[in-house]
Amino acid sequence: AANRVTVVGSFNVDHVWTAAALPRPGETLAGRYHSGPGGKGFNQAVASARAGASTSFVCALGADSGGQLARALAVADGIDLRDQPSDAPTGTAGIFVGSDGANSIVIGPGANAAMTPSFVDAQRAAMAESAVVLVQLESPVASITRALQLAGEAGATRMLNPAPANVEVPTELLALADLLTPNETEFAALLRRHGGDEVDAASLAALNDELLHTHCRRLLPHGTVVVTLGAAGCFVSHAPQDLRGDGLQHYRVAGEAAQAIDTTGAGDAFNGALAAALARDAQRPFAQQVKFANRYAAMSTENAGAAAAMPRLADVIGRFGG
Ligand code: RIB
Ligand code: NA
Repeated sequence: AANRVTVVGSFNVDHVWTAAALPRPGETLAGRYHSGPGGKGFNQAVASARAGASTSFVCALGADSGGQLARALAVADGIDLRDQPSDAPTGTAGIFVGSDGANSIVIGPGANAAMTPSFVDAQRAAMAESAVVLVQLESPVASITRALQLAGEAGATRMLNPAPANVEVPTELLALADLLTPNETEFAALLRRHGGDEVDAASLAALNDELLHTHCRRLLPHGTVVVTLGAAGCFVSHAPQDLRGDGLQHYRVAGEAAQAIDTTGAGDAFNGALAAALARDAQRPFAQQVKFANRYAAMSTENAGAAAAMPRLADVIGRFGG
């Protein structure tokens, strides 16, 4: 159905320490600490809900305070939570942030690693009602593969955010995606593994458009690739048979200015907002959907935290207009 998104993915309790620098081996530093809700799946589900889509979130949670936090927050944001109970602890992320904004993260997957394909199967009704199904790589590959298979059977748009970059994406999973949304690092990793191409993630935004398009077409010949380039915005590449309302096969969408204080979860903001925009109005030209997602993600960087930083649709419209 229109206006419904299902996100299948992770929930983490983020523990964040900010210090003057990142700690080196053997070093002890003093800094500031805060904790809050995160996990790429949950961040994207909150973004989707706050960007105006009815949102279901399929995940696995432990029987602990983290699981309780996830349930309470889902209620607060009107998210239809479908959690597989696990004996493992709820997922966690330990995040060190240096004064220049660089970070180092260790994930404790916990319950996230225990989400099974058969639990995803049991949520097929949610996927059948959704215009968009969105997955990331912090959950077992077999489970998110199952989610995209069910989404395909239901005729939903299958969106794969291939994050984080260190997780390998099997060819079968890539083949199931209609829409792929890597950042620079993830794009370089995918090209290395699936095309044998070496590109430098740091200078990707400077590559010429024809070359970027050629890389995207090799990676996902049948679908749309949106490469997010941080403050430089996005590069969009469509399959020739599927221009999604745009007249062009490839183009850039400019980034939006922001007074960034915390970029944690900015990629998740982009993905959740893009999913919601597509679910709300599939007829709108894709370039406009991406522009909205850029604005949404830019605003998320002006608030501290990951899931907690997601702006509301009214705030985005108030800032940038409809
Ligand atoms: O994308 C940001 C997220 O990555 C954080 O919330 C943290 O939980 C990690 O999973
Ligand atoms: Na943020």
